[in-house]
Amino acid sequence: MSNDLVIKDLRAQIGDKEILKGVNLTVQGGTIHAIMGPNGSGKSTLASVIAGHPGYEVTGGEIWYKGQNILELEPDERSKLGLFLAFQYPVSVPGVTVANFLRAAINAHRAEEGKDPKETAIPVAEFRKQLREGMKLLEMDESFARRYLNEGFSGGEKKRLEILQMTMLKPSMAVMDETDSGLDIDALRIVAEGVNRLAGPNMGVLVITHYQRLLNYIKPQFVSVMMDGRIVREGGPELALELEEKGYDWLREELAGTA
Ligand SMILES: Nc1ncnc2c1ncn2[C@@H]1O[C@H](COP(=O)(O)OP(=O)(O)O)[C@@H](O)[C@H]1O
Ligand SMILES: [Mg+2]
Repeated sequence: MSNDLVIKDLRAQIGDKEILKGVNLTVQGGTIHAIMGPNGSGKSTLASVIAGHPGYEVTGGEIWYKGQNILELEPDERSKLGLFLAFQYPVSVPGVTVANFLRAAINAHRAEEGKDPKETAIPVAEFRKQLREGMKLLEMDESFARRYLNEGFSGGEKKRLEILQMTMLKPSMAVMDETDSGLDIDALRIVAEGVNRLAGPNMGVLVITHYQRLLNYIKPQFVSVMMDGRIVREGGPELALELEEKGYDWLREELAGTA
């Protein structure tokens, strides 16, 4: 069973507009892989389709993970398989505290068919310990756990919460979209340190970003470039630097055969 995320000729549309026009991409398990690309190229659409967001209609292709075509799975089943998606714009859920939300997410993962959820639930003391340790690593104040989910959270707080979630859920593959949007330099550092600490043989990361800036902190081994709904170029870290230096136009011209 492979830990690679393998995307084959993926097509998706919103309404009757085709956004993903045949995406082919392999993210090797246990590696850090970046997708870069200009605004509007379909990066967030790809992240949403991987997560099973209902607003996108998949019209063709497959996404394989751990021996399953995840397009046939519900979002929560994808999550149980070990996929984690950090949403670009996390929703607020009034009345649910951060701690309750995290505990519910962990227990959903631990649940087993035919077993009483009380049997598989994480013991409260163990949960509190993990929560405390995670928050300490992310330099979060303990009061954060008692706040309502995403209510009035700053961009940095939302991102810290995502990393806290990753720390506690221990996914085998995390997909992070535009992790640098709205982050000041301190928050960016903390998020990047969190990702770097978690990434390794047990957790691959697909980091999706418009900016090279984030990649100064999170070093990808592989870089893929998306343009107009397709992966148009693949390389190593040097490709990200080249794009930072020269922008996207040279690549667009090269692809059009006018360079
Ligand atoms: N909810 C939506 N309704 C209509 N069009 C959308 C929607 N979301 C994205 N699009 C369009 O899909 C294209 C790709 O968007 P997106 O996936 O957000 O790109 P990126 O993340 O690379 O900036 C853009 O042309 C955008 O306008
Ligand atoms: Mg986007």
